[in-house]
Amino acid sequence: MNNPGFELQEDGLERSHSSIKPHYPYYECRHEEKKSCSLMKIFLVCFLACLITTAIGVMILCLVYLGHIHEKRSQEIIIPMYPSMDIKPPQDTNNDTNTDPRFNFMRHLGTSQVFAFEGGDIQWARYRNNPKDYSDENELQFGASINQHQSKMTVGTLRIVSKGLRAPHWHFNANEHGFLVQGMAWIGVVDDGGVVTTYNVTAGQVIFFPKNTLHWVKNVGDEDCLFILFFTTHDELSTLDVDDAFYKTPEDIAARSLKPVGGIDFIRTFKKPKEDQAINLPENLAELIQTAKYVQSNESDYGKYFYDLKGSREFVFPGGIIQWARYRKNDTGLNNTEKIYSESINSHADTLTLGTLRIKSNGMRQPHFHFNAHEMGYVISGCGQIGIVGGRPVPDFAIGIGDVFFFPIGTQHYIKSTCDEDLFMILAFSTGNQLETLDMDDYFHATADHILAQLFLKKQEEFKKIPKLKDDQAVNLP
Ligand SMILES: *[C@@H]1O[C@H](CO)[C@@H](O)[C@H](O)[C@H]1NC(C)=O
Ligand SMILES: *[C@@H]1O[C@H](CO)[C@@H](O)[C@H](O)[C@H]1NC(C)=O
Ligand SMILES: *[C@@H]1O[C@H](CO)[C@@H](O)[C@H](O)[C@H]1NC(C)=O
Ligand SMILES: *[C@@H]1O[C@H](CO)[C@@H](O)[C@H](O)[C@H]1NC(C)=O
Ligand SMILES: *[C@@H]1O[C@H](CO)[C@@H](O)[C@H](O)[C@H]1NC(C)=O
Repeated sequence: MNNPGFELQEDGLERSHSSIKPHYPYYECRHEEKKSCSLMKIFLVCFLACLITTAIGVMILCLVYLGHIHEKRSQEIIIPMYPSMDIKPPQDTNNDTNTDPRFNFMRHLGTSQVFAFEGGDIQWARYRNNPKDYSDENELQFGASINQHQSKMTVGTLRIVSKGLRAPHWHFNANEHGFLVQGMAWIGVVDDGGVVTTYNVTAGQVIFFPKNTLHWVKNVGDEDCLFILFFTTHDELSTLDVDDAFYKTPEDIAARSLKPVGGIDFIRTFKKPKEDQAINLPENLAELIQTAKYVQSNESDYGKYFYDLKGSREFVFPGGIIQWARYRKNDTGLNNTEKIYSESINSHADTLTLGTLRIKSNGMRQPHFHFNAHEMGYVISGCGQIGIVGGRPVPDFAIGIGDVFFFPIGTQHYIKSTCDEDLFMILAFSTGNQLETLDMDDYFHATADHILAQLFLKKQEEFKKIPKLKDDQAVNLP
C-alpha cells in the first residue's frame, strides 16, 4: 500500500521542524547555564529515572543525554526514535510554508513547456529526475507528488498534424494508454513475437501499447490528432525511437543485420537529420511515398490494443454518464472485441482502467474513493470544481480545459460541473483489475444507524432522514 507511506512522510516533516526537541525531558538543560547541568545533577536525574522507568527507558535517556552535549550526536540519536523520519524527506510537497497544497493534485498541463516538432507537439505533467527540467514550481510540485505517491501514472498530450507521424518507438518502463480526442490515426503495434497489428482509430476511441512493444501513430485524417496519453510510470519515461536506435548502431553491424543490396555503402547513404524526427512531416513527403496502404488487422487481433470507448455501453446517472475501458471479472454483457481488450489489459502487469466521465451542467460526481487505484484525469471540455479530503487540508480548486488532476489512492474526492456546458473528462485509474469504489451515500447507508448516532452525537432516528434512492446517485443533480 502506498498511502500509509505518504502519511508517514507528512508526519515526519511536520514534526521535524520544531516539535521534536521539546518532547525530550533533557532538552531543558540545553538552554540553561552549563554549570547548572553539573555532573551531579545529571547523575541524580539519571538515577531517579532509573527507578521509575524501565531499563530500556534509561538506556534511551542516557544515550540521548550524552548526545545532547554534541548537537550532531544528539541528532543521530533522535532519528531512529522517529521511524517515520527514515523515509527520505520529499523535496517540495511538504514544504508547506511556500507551496499551495492544491498543486500536489492539479496541474495546468496547457501551460507546460511545449516540445515542438515539425509534425506536432507534446506536453507533459510528469516527474523529472532533474528538478531543473521543470518549467515552473507548480509543475515540480505536481511531478514530485505523483512520484512520492508511487502513482504509476504520467500524463501527456500528443498533437500530430495531418500526415504527421509519431515515429516508431518503444518505452522501456511503461505501458501506454491513449484516448483520441479528435482526428483519425493509423496505428501499428509490433509485439515481442514480431507480430504486426495495425488499425485505424477515431475520436473517442482508446489505444493500448504494452511496455516495450514497438508502435507508431500516423495522422491519416485532415485535421490535427489530439491524444491524451497515460504512461504507467511515476519515474521519468524511457523511450527509444527507431531512427535514433538505427543511427546509434555501428554501420557494419547495421549492414550485417539488414543485409541490404549494396551492403554497408547503402547504410552510409542514411544521413541523420539535424531536426529530431520524433513527430515528423518532411516537406517532400509526396516525393518520398509512392503507395500508402492502411491495412486493418482482424478485430480479434487489434482488440488487444484497441477499445471503442465512445461506442461502448453508457452508464447513465441522473447527473451524467460514465463509460469504461476496463477489465471485468464477469464478462457477461461484453461483446467479443470488448472481452479481448478486457483480458488484454488484465494479462499485463501495471495497466490502467480508463473511463470517460460526463457531468451535466450543475451535476456532481459525489464524494467517493477508490480502494485499489490512484486516479488521474484530464479535462477535455467544460469546467468544474474539485474537493479532496485526504491527509493535509486542501482547498477546493477549479478545473478547466487542459487541466490534469490526481487523486491518490483512498483519498475522498468529488467533482462538480460549474458552467453551462457539460464537464467532460478522460479518467485513468492505476489498476488493470476491477476498480473498487465506495461512494459517500453508500458508506452512510452501510454504517448502522446506532453507530452513526454515537459518532455524530445525534439521535439514531435522525439518520432515517438520509434516504436510499432508487437510482444510483454516483453522478447526481440537485
Ligand atoms: C522551502 O522552500 C523555500 C523557498 O522555496 C526554501 O528556501 C526552503 O529551503 C525550503 N525548505 C525545505 C525544508 O525544503
Ligand atoms: C483507415 O484510414 C485510411 C485513411 O483515412 C482509410 O483509407 C481506410 O479506409 C481506413 N480503414 C478503415 C477500415 O476504416
Ligand atoms: C483474418 O481472418 C480471416 C478469416 O478468419 C483470415 O483468413 C485472415 O488471414 C485473417 N487476417 C489476418 C490479417 O490475420
Ligand atoms: C462491440 O462493442 C464495441 C463498443 O464497445 C463496438 O464498437 C463494436 O462494434 C462491437 N462489436 C461487435 C462485434 O458488435
Ligand atoms: C455476471 O453478470 C450477469 C449480468 O451482469 C449476471 O446475470 C450473472 O449472474 C453474473 N455471473 C456471475 C457468476 O456472477
